Amino acid sequence: MTELTAHGFAYSDGDVDTNTSSNPSLNAMIDQRYSRRAALRSGAMAASVAVFGGAVLAGCDSTASSSDPFPNIISVGSSGTTKAGRVVTLTANVTDNGAVSSAWVQTQGPTVTLTNPTSTTPSFIAPAVPTATPLRFEYRATDTAGQVTVESVTVTVDAAEMGFTSIAKNRNDVVTVPAGYSVTVLTRLGDPIASGVPAYKNDGTDTDFANRIGDHGDALYWYGLSAAGAREDNSSVRGLIVQNHENLNVQYLHPAGPTSPGGVRPEAEAIKEIEAHGVSVTEVVEGANRAWTYVQNSTFNRRITPSTPMVFNGPVRGAALLRTPHSTDGTAGRGTINNCANGHTFWGTNITCEENWAGYFRRSGDDAQRTARELVALRRYGVTSSSGAYGWSTVTAADASNTLFRRWDARATVGGSATTDWRNEPNQFGWVVEIDPYDKTKAPRKRTALGRMGHEGAWFGNPVAGKKLAVYLGDDARGEYFYKFVSNATWTASDSQAADRLAIGDKYLDAGTLYVARFGADGSGRWLPLVFGQVPNRPAVGADPEYVFADQADILTNARLAADAVGATKMDRPEWTATNPVTGEIYLTLTNNNATLRPITGTDAANPRHYNDPKGASNQFGNPNGHILRLRELADDPAALSFVWDIYLFGADSADSNSDVNISGLTANNDFSSPDGLWFSRPSNPGGQVKPLLWIQTDDGAFTDRTNNQMLLAMPGITNDGASVTITNRGNGGTTGTQTTRRGALATDATLKRFLVGPIGCEITGVDSTPDGRTLFVGIQHPGEDGTATAPDSSWPATQATGTAPAGTRPRSAVVVITKNDGGVVGL
Ligand code: FEO
Ligand code: CA
Ligand code: CA
Repeated sequence: MTELTAHGFAYSDGDVDTNTSSNPSLNAMIDQRYSRRAALRSGAMAASVAVFGGAVLAGCDSTASSSDPFPNIISVGSSGTTKAGRVVTLTANVTDNGAVSSAWVQTQGPTVTLTNPTSTTPSFIAPAVPTATPLRFEYRATDTAGQVTVESVTVTVDAAEMGFTSIAKNRNDVVTVPAGYSVTVLTRLGDPIASGVPAYKNDGTDTDFANRIGDHGDALYWYGLSAAGAREDNSSVRGLIVQNHENLNVQYLHPAGPTSPGGVRPEAEAIKEIEAHGVSVTEVVEGANRAWTYVQNSTFNRRITPSTPMVFNGPVRGAALLRTPHSTDGTAGRGTINNCANGHTFWGTNITCEENWAGYFRRSGDDAQRTARELVALRRYGVTSSSGAYGWSTVTAADASNTLFRRWDARATVGGSATTDWRNEPNQFGWVVEIDPYDKTKAPRKRTALGRMGHEGAWFGNPVAGKKLAVYLGDDARGEYFYKFVSNATWTASDSQAADRLAIGDKYLDAGTLYVARFGADGSGRWLPLVFGQVPNRPAVGADPEYVFADQADILTNARLAADAVGATKMDRPEWTATNPVTGEIYLTLTNNNATLRPITGTDAANPRHYNDPKGASNQFGNPNGHILRLRELADDPAALSFVWDIYLFGADSADSNSDVNISGLTANNDFSSPDGLWFSRPSNPGGQVKPLLWIQTDDGAFTDRTNNQMLLAMPGITNDGASVTITNRGNGGTTGTQTTRRGALATDATLKRFLVGPIGCEITGVDSTPDGRTLFVGIQHPGEDGTATAPDSSWPATQATGTAPAGTRPRSAVVVITKNDGGVVGL
């Protein structure tokens, strides 16, 4: 016979009648087993526990037994409570022999997925619930006689709360996250993403950025892959990260910084600088112990650069404004640049947005060859540089026919035309671009129906079957506008899984109406259509004459002028938008403004503050800390022409501002400045359900005397959950004014917490998670941006593991992975 063991599965039903050994008889054994079971039952019940989000609970809930003389003896952990998004581990002990099968089953409450339910200790993620909700589980063990023993446990799930302690502001050269969370570095500037590309030396000698992770990683998004390598939206263990590469820390790209920055640039340096811009598609996988890595040799890996072939779609395709020597019919282009924030479609494609493209072009000096209309448009978009940002047009290419450098010189030539010089090349940028991340053979499509501006991002409202789709668009510059595109086509859910994804993009993004927002003093707002025939002439401004629109292509190419003409509301730098997956409300970051562009006499209800935020001995007047506005469309219709709005949150330095500035009641636990990145947790996990989590990233220079840039986590309420307030603004020289606005509910320690602080000189931008919410990806952009090649002022991410790195180590933009150590949903 076999000894009884704690888990009892060594049972042998041997024929004791033939046993001549001195082992106990059957009757004796029965007595022993009952006696032992009784002892074990009480002992086991006291010892066995269920773990609810790390808490150890006592007690037991025993409901069943068997009349079989040899039933299994089991006990389970006690009933208890947890909160949405937390990990719950059920615990069963089988303390008698004889079970031939056993498993946990759920018998009550919202269905959850048990990991390995036939184990004695499966776990699950507590579901999102609006109020306390019981979930009941039974552990059923069947013995060889077919007798079933059942024990049960009830887990009561409470509504979600943020499950961490707000971290302190700091100026350390690492990424800091709350206790109970871990940070690892996933991809960095220069990491090779094709086979055979050597490791990044990070000393300025590396080349081939068309096969490496680009610089200034910005917005990012996860696209799931199945084990077989097909699109699988719900995959949380294998996927593609599509990331924008907005700009350069050019001082670190070359051995001693850029050569000849004001003169003729070396071709090899220009190639590196050009290729380090654009977009990357990189396969990433979760390995053992939740360690994430990228796959250097993945066939999905792709770089899209400012030289990658593109096609134009929508109303401006083929217009004279797009004609260049490269595309004499105005239907094609090369590349995308200054890719800032993003968007994702419901059919599996990625959106990238061209923001500060104007500065890359050399243009000034050609006024005599330009029409008055052209000059109005060029000035309105800031295409006025005398050199272009990195002087790429100065390159004398070894290949004389190579126009990839010459194209950055947009000066109209004497006697030239749109197809002999590059006067129209700037019109090829400033668009929203759609990319199929799963198919690198497809050229990205520039969606001209969404207008041309300094696009920050392009985020969709929640899709509603049978209704049009809405896309919300910030134009990121001080005093620019907030736009909405509404498709002509109404949403058909089956389009989400179509094989030809870019064709679905054609359906929804090539025909529709672009609107711009006007905010009323009473908390109402209107969407003003930018449609030829309805838009008046743009009045003369200063030396610029009246602008008369020629056609719809002109209106879309010069959307800023059209928005001027209809009287849109100038905003304090409209950046990211985010859509609450439950309420459908749209959130918009307004990063900041200054006294020059918004003087104290220039406030309005939607941009209401003017004040000084002292930074050391310096004054900062205007709205240096920014705010976050939100709106709700009339009748929740994406195509609505009106909305209501309030200001969800005002940034402020809680230590040196009064209640006219710190309007949202921030404290040292959650004060921030210059909100930029904004993203609601995905609705596929508890973080994005019932009362979704909102992640807020900062791009700040006003508050950096207190802290490096940061990411906060919020649980917002709804539009108009606060009150009307009248604030006193205070300008330079003692001027004052009053402004009435609509403030959302005050922030509290339960609704707004600091989750992450980045390294020195960085901006936090780009955030997404796996669909299960258990892995968060965060972009750390331009650490050490104020340093030099010989004296970097940050060495992150080399510092991340230990806090230090060898002297002189150059910083690199990177994506970090953040996980909760107990495996729960990040943030909850
Ligand atoms: Fe690229 Fe507006 O930040
Ligand atoms: Ca301050
Ligand atoms: Ca940004």
